[in-house]
Amino acid sequence: MRIAIIGGTGVYDPAILTDVQEAELVTPYGTINYLQGRYEDKEVFFLARHGSGHSVPPHRINYRANIWGLKMLGVTEVIATAAVGSLNQEMPPGEMVLLDQFIDFTKDRVDTFYDGGPAGVVHVDYTEPYCPRVRAVLLAAAKEAGITLIPRGTYVCTEGPRYETPAEIKAYAVLGGDLVGMTNVPEVVLAREAGLCYATVAMVTNWAAGISPHPLTHREVVEIMDRNTEKLRRLLMRAISGLSEDPDCACHHATRELGQF
Ligand code: HPA
Repeated sequence: MRIAIIGGTGVYDPAILTDVQEAELVTPYGTINYLQGRYEDKEVFFLARHGSGHSVPPHRINYRANIWGLKMLGVTEVIATAAVGSLNQEMPPGEMVLLDQFIDFTKDRVDTFYDGGPAGVVHVDYTEPYCPRVRAVLLAAAKEAGITLIPRGTYVCTEGPRYETPAEIKAYAVLGGDLVGMTNVPEVVLAREAGLCYATVAMVTNWAAGISPHPLTHREVVEIMDRNTEKLRRLLMRAISGLSEDPDCACHHATRELGQF
């Protein structure tokens, strides 16, 4: 089976794969660069969301090319990582959270493969935006490895690239947000449209603006990621081991109405 890891900030090197090769793929939405390797009996693809040298900001990422590219490569399951700020006292920096909901505050991103016309009009269900099956595998993997993984969290996606104001963070908390980041939307949205099983492990790198005792810096985010990458890698390895394909998973049939996938 074919699995992909989408590495967020601080995760640029899968370091867990064998027979790794660099490759490029031209998709209808643009070109993607990725690494391809093996882990145990599985083919694993690795995409650095921000490019290999963290050169692409959140609002410039070609989310459609990334997700469509994975689909073209025959990937069926995707585990993404994301650095996040926290607005929930129970989710301090250094903890990992398995996202289960999102709130979208992005403003200027293409977030669908279905723009009408020949592609059709599609309204996809996001009652469970993250694949429950992949989430269950991640939770089991964390338990087996003795790693704490907070089982639920609502991700607020902002447009970026600036950090938030304390007033925005207060508002997001009132709305039920736990974590804030700049990239999970439209990635999670497009993954479902493409019929991929997708889940995200969020790494809390900082208290959000106004909760943090100091101004936010990208350096702080990267430092906390670096300190916790080993834990994240161990979790990913276990999860890849435990993942299996399920052609009947509802994620694969999200656009059934259109007769797709
Ligand atoms: N805000 C938005 N995105 C982030 C943050 C944050 O505080 N930390 C890491 N990514």
